Amino acid sequence: MSNFYETMLNNNLGRSLLKTAGLPTPIDLKRYNPSQETYFEGKVLVGACKNAALLGDLFRNLKASKATVYFPAAAKTAADILAAANKAGVRAIGVETKKGMSEKFDAFVFDASGFESGADLNQLYYFFNPVMRQLNSNGRALVLGRPHMKAATGEQAAAMRALEGFTRSVAKEIGKKSSTSLTIYVEEGAEANLDSSFRFAISAKSCYVDGQTITVSKAAASEYPDWHKPLAGKVALVTGAARGIGESIARTLARDGAKVLGLDIPPAEKDLSRVIAEIGGEMLLADISSKEAPQQISDKLKEMGGGDIIVHNAGVTRDKTLANMPEHWWNMTIDINLLAEEHINDALLANGTLNKGGSIICVSSMNGIAGQLGQTNYAASKAGVIGYVQYMAPVLAEKGFTINAVAPGFIETQMTDAIPFMTREVGRRLNSLSQGGKPVDVAETIAFFGNPASNGVTGNIVRVCGQSLVGA
Ligand SMILES: NC(=O)c1ccc[n+]([C@@H]2O[C@H](COP(=O)([O-])OP(=O)(O)OC[C@H]3O[C@@H](n4cnc5c(N)ncnc54)[C@H](O)[C@@H]3O)[C@@H](O)[C@H]2O)c1
Repeated sequence: MSNFYETMLNNNLGRSLLKTAGLPTPIDLKRYNPSQETYFEGKVLVGACKNAALLGDLFRNLKASKATVYFPAAAKTAADILAAANKAGVRAIGVETKKGMSEKFDAFVFDASGFESGADLNQLYYFFNPVMRQLNSNGRALVLGRPHMKAATGEQAAAMRALEGFTRSVAKEIGKKSSTSLTIYVEEGAEANLDSSFRFAISAKSCYVDGQTITVSKAAASEYPDWHKPLAGKVALVTGAARGIGESIARTLARDGAKVLGLDIPPAEKDLSRVIAEIGGEMLLADISSKEAPQQISDKLKEMGGGDIIVHNAGVTRDKTLANMPEHWWNMTIDINLLAEEHINDALLANGTLNKGGSIICVSSMNGIAGQLGQTNYAASKAGVIGYVQYMAPVLAEKGFTINAVAPGFIETQMTDAIPFMTREVGRRLNSLSQGGKPVDVAETIAFFGNPASNGVTGNIVRVCGQSLVGA
């Protein structure tokens, strides 16, 4: 809140001046608060299509929250929704959904898993249209479906892929209220693995993850651990933990119960020691792109009982147009941002350092998806990370490991504070939520991937960007 724009946003006169000038006046995002009792508290309206397969799983999760559950009483599937709620022991209240109704909601959830063709899409319209103005700020509009590439017919694939276009557009419509929209695709047979994705998506932890999809694959059934300490007993490596996003990842994983091994380069020793002392973790000083680093990391993790969560966060930018790029800048960026991760993973796998159910999480970037002037080296490295994650997901799944990536957008750090005012304001506002994210938003997404109940979540690339227009 240190700049002029933020100061204006923080008082009524300033806000109305910004509004008059046609400038965005975003509502603060509601983030996770450890004092909250459970992952969601509020009013949720549940809808479903014919033959919806995920209602039982939805209600199993809502039962574990403090949600007050409603459903459209006049919907053709009202009896199915009520039956599923009753079976799960959830009290569901039928309401007449219509424009101008008095009831307001904190979340809409629609189970579209039974869609067979594009002709079914009108059910989205019938569910959402009457209530679109009834969503409170910081609300959620979630749609559940099946991955289109595993559909039974081309028509069904079209209907499932359509969900993504729908939620991305809903996200743009509700973003001004700091509300977000996501699609969760659940493979057949993966219903029991839905829990961590649904709870993350509906909770405040996903507040800057907007217009995204999460795919849940079939994995061994797992119980959701304690919402406040889901990583209890786990050992997590975080590279680049001395500052910025890496520091926040280390703090968040420790908050969630993990024992953190924070790694950074020797010149960052002072900052790293401070972070590690505050979270009661362990530290390792190393350059991840050095030849020795993979073995050093493996040895240190072994001492700690093996690694459960491996977060490849350390990264550098060395920006120049390709025409002006020095060779060593090119090589350094690729070595640190891409090759080091591969070498470390190779060593951990070869030495058996990754514990059963282990989770590898890479940090890509929106610019790796979109490309950026002066960042051929950086964008190549970060796009390479995406290719690596997508290729390795099925390979590692055979060993019971997961691998995912986050792709941050404009995240408020010391680095972004140093960008000139106008450029910074454009970067910060050019998304559906009209604000930058915080390092903790990236960290929460990483903690979700590392959650042992996310064992069905692999090969996902989730942007943490408030639905930035860049590369969308
Ligand atoms: N800040 C953003 O808006 C943003 C956006 C997209 C992606 N990212 C990515 O997020 C990650 C963290 O970014 P940040 O903004 O916190 O950066 P940062 O520069 O503030 O922090 C990076 C950390 O990594 C460490 N590091 C760098 N090279 C290393 C090496 N060879 N070995 C070990 N440690 C090394 C640094 O010392 C530093 O502590 C990076 O991978 C970055 O590319 C950031």
